[in-house]
Amino acid sequence: MNFGHFDDENMEYVVTTPKTPLPWINYLGSNDFFSLISNTSGGYSFYKDAKLLRLTRYRYNDVPLDSNGKYFYIKDGAAIWNPGWQPTKTELDEYECRHGMGYTKFHGKKGDISANVLCFVPMDDTCEVQKIVVTNDGSSEKKIQLFSYVEFCLWNAMDDMTNYQRNLSTGEVEVIGSTIYHKTEYRERRNHYAVYSVNTKADGFDTSREDFIGVYNSGANPDAVIEGKCRNSIASGWYPIASHQIDITLAPGESKSYVFVLGYCENPKDQKWEAQDVINKAPAEKMLAKYQTDEDVDKSFDNLRTYWKKLLSKFTVNTKNDKVNRMVNIWNQYQCMVTFNMSRSASYYESGIGRGMGFRDSCQDLLGFVHLIPDRARQRIIDIASTQFQDGSAYHQYQPLTKKGNSDIGSGFNDDPLWLIAGTSAYIRETGDTTILDEIVPYDNDMSVATSLFEHLTRSLDYIINHKGPHDLPLIGRADWNDCLNLNCFSEHPGESFQTFGPSEGPVAESVFIGGMFVKYGNEYADLCDFIGKKDEADRARSEVEKMVKALLGAGWDGKWFIRAYDANGNKVGSNECDEGKIYIEPQGFCVLAGVGVETGEAQKAMDSVKEMLDTKYGIMILQPAYTRYHVELGEISSYPPGYKENAGIFCHNNPWVSIAETVIGDGDRAFEIYQKTCPAYLQDISEIHRTEPYVYSQMVAGRDARFHGQGKNSWLTGTAAWTFTDISQYILGVYPTLKGLQINPCIPHGFGDFTVTREYRNAVYHITVKNPSDVCKGVLKMTVDGNDISGNVIPYDPSKKDVNIEIVMG
Ligand code: BGC
Ligand code: NOJ
Repeated sequence: MNFGHFDDENMEYVVTTPKTPLPWINYLGSNDFFSLISNTSGGYSFYKDAKLLRLTRYRYNDVPLDSNGKYFYIKDGAAIWNPGWQPTKTELDEYECRHGMGYTKFHGKKGDISANVLCFVPMDDTCEVQKIVVTNDGSSEKKIQLFSYVEFCLWNAMDDMTNYQRNLSTGEVEVIGSTIYHKTEYRERRNHYAVYSVNTKADGFDTSREDFIGVYNSGANPDAVIEGKCRNSIASGWYPIASHQIDITLAPGESKSYVFVLGYCENPKDQKWEAQDVINKAPAEKMLAKYQTDEDVDKSFDNLRTYWKKLLSKFTVNTKNDKVNRMVNIWNQYQCMVTFNMSRSASYYESGIGRGMGFRDSCQDLLGFVHLIPDRARQRIIDIASTQFQDGSAYHQYQPLTKKGNSDIGSGFNDDPLWLIAGTSAYIRETGDTTILDEIVPYDNDMSVATSLFEHLTRSLDYIINHKGPHDLPLIGRADWNDCLNLNCFSEHPGESFQTFGPSEGPVAESVFIGGMFVKYGNEYADLCDFIGKKDEADRARSEVEKMVKALLGAGWDGKWFIRAYDANGNKVGSNECDEGKIYIEPQGFCVLAGVGVETGEAQKAMDSVKEMLDTKYGIMILQPAYTRYHVELGEISSYPPGYKENAGIFCHNNPWVSIAETVIGDGDRAFEIYQKTCPAYLQDISEIHRTEPYVYSQMVAGRDARFHGQGKNSWLTGTAAWTFTDISQYILGVYPTLKGLQINPCIPHGFGDFTVTREYRNAVYHITVKNPSDVCKGVLKMTVDGNDISGNVIPYDPSKKDVNIEIVMG
């Protein structure tokens, strides 16, 4: 069942009913100010950090779902409604929500009145702009009222929901004309405040929630709106809000528009005050002055649209498959940018008060946006590497505001170091910028022990080499990519965190998955060494890779697939010998995509086993059979009911690993089949089952053992975005950046047809045409660059060229 449709031309998803199975959200903001906004106007805003600098309040676990947001009410006689439907949920005659690139639009109509709302965060300001146009579609004059509503959060979102004994006495506001200032805690240690304003004279306002809504009412029936009269209340403690009342007269056919701005402002410490207790409003006035007319808004909105158009033109594909086109050209890249901005902090599943920036998550996210914003990717790599420890291990997370490692969670996730090699290699393959390797980067933010970034990578590699277990496989530490495979944890009491309980390292438990990663990124490291003339180091790395391949095909091989791990007692995990959890997806995907067993046949066997034992119509499950009881020696993985999350869910993140692995062995049909199964655009028609947004990936889809097989959860902030983009763009369409230039090596399904790709790469635009006259899956028969035949399939990098035309004939 569909709840909307794609509008590819405008790069929008059009939600056509407010009653979606779950809130379907969008993100506004590109730099420092962000808003989450749902298709019913739910969501909240923050500046830089969703925990520490939150402007508006969101209520988790609330009923009805997604019931706090930033709302407009229209009162038309006895009818009270919202253009985004919530919170009054008045049935609308017309409703539409368009989620676009960094903006969301609503259209609502009830009786003779229609309202169009546009919400976006300008490129270069710390505010959300909302333009609302109300129109009288009837034939007689109308007198209506418009009320705005935002509820302020007392900045620290965690404190805001817990510390009422203090918070209910701290709220403070100022009101000047149509501008409401939220200044809680400004009198003491803050030098920032929020502002909510409208570009017209308000006929009334409220800043106290109790006055506007009423003590026992809700957003669905606020007293002030019902009575058509704000109280002009000045909040003092309790619950500060901002609401404007605008009385409007509309002639038949007449439209009026209003511009609202919700902003974040800062003052230098010594310029906080205008007078005793009166905040310095200069930064707010400066910001508001920029959004006083429709033209101002249109100009700023055009800038935003141009930014996204330009950004997304860096990689575009044209195939005969419109679902592939729209995912690659629009939504997959857009989601990658959202993961760049948010990491795993703020979504409708991540509260914005929990995790900071993940070390491994951020390195992997980079794979999806490095071609879009290489300079920011460069800085991100330095930030991440600055939290590494001197022995090559890493803080598992760091805080976005301070950029310091998070000691609450610490280190011990032994896959982390290798992801730094993955990210850096991707950056250099993209840009050719090897100077990043010479950057002097601290360890644990301590500049006195800083070394070159290259040395960081060496220590990453050596960390794995120096931490091997009884089978010469890498020690797993707290966990590897699978945070829930906690082989050294042995937690027996509720409330102990699986991520931090127990020792961070054990001498026995080993990970086959990290072994696969070592092969993949050990080779990429060796290539980098060759590229910068460090031949001996390249040889050393390759000989270590060879040893690892041996271990993987020895103790790491179970006969028909790769084992997952050895536990702390030396028992196999993910082996045919196990009763539950006989086979796991991660080592199959990663070992094969790294090339392990490709020549000796194990790779094909592993892929066959995945198909036979893990595949479902909604994607590949993470393991089978699901764990049906708690295994203290395995940890969190066995804490989930069968079919959910890491216990046999379809973890979308590692489906592309298997798809990429299939391209490595040349099976384009299977690679594409896997790609399709989790691809949102293909799931749109089963939205009643899938439930999450049909334009972005979710972390997990419930597996076959689950009661709700096929149901998605945890949309938006997932490494799935970066990995599926890597899969489709670099392996299936086959446009792969190497250190020496772009390589074109598609692996497509039969019947895929010819296609073209436009790809910006190192300051030139590559216009690539792929022809497949014999309808093969893989193989490049012939390649011409600007009309000249060249041998091989890597386009030699020529910095003097601005446009390069490539034709490939497959065969
Ligand atoms: C989740 C994992 C996640 C981890 C992060 C676990 O509860 O199942 O998916 O990586 O928390 O801390
Ligand atoms: C989500 C985490 O963000 C990621 O780091 C981890 O790899 C996966 N869950 C799998 O556990």
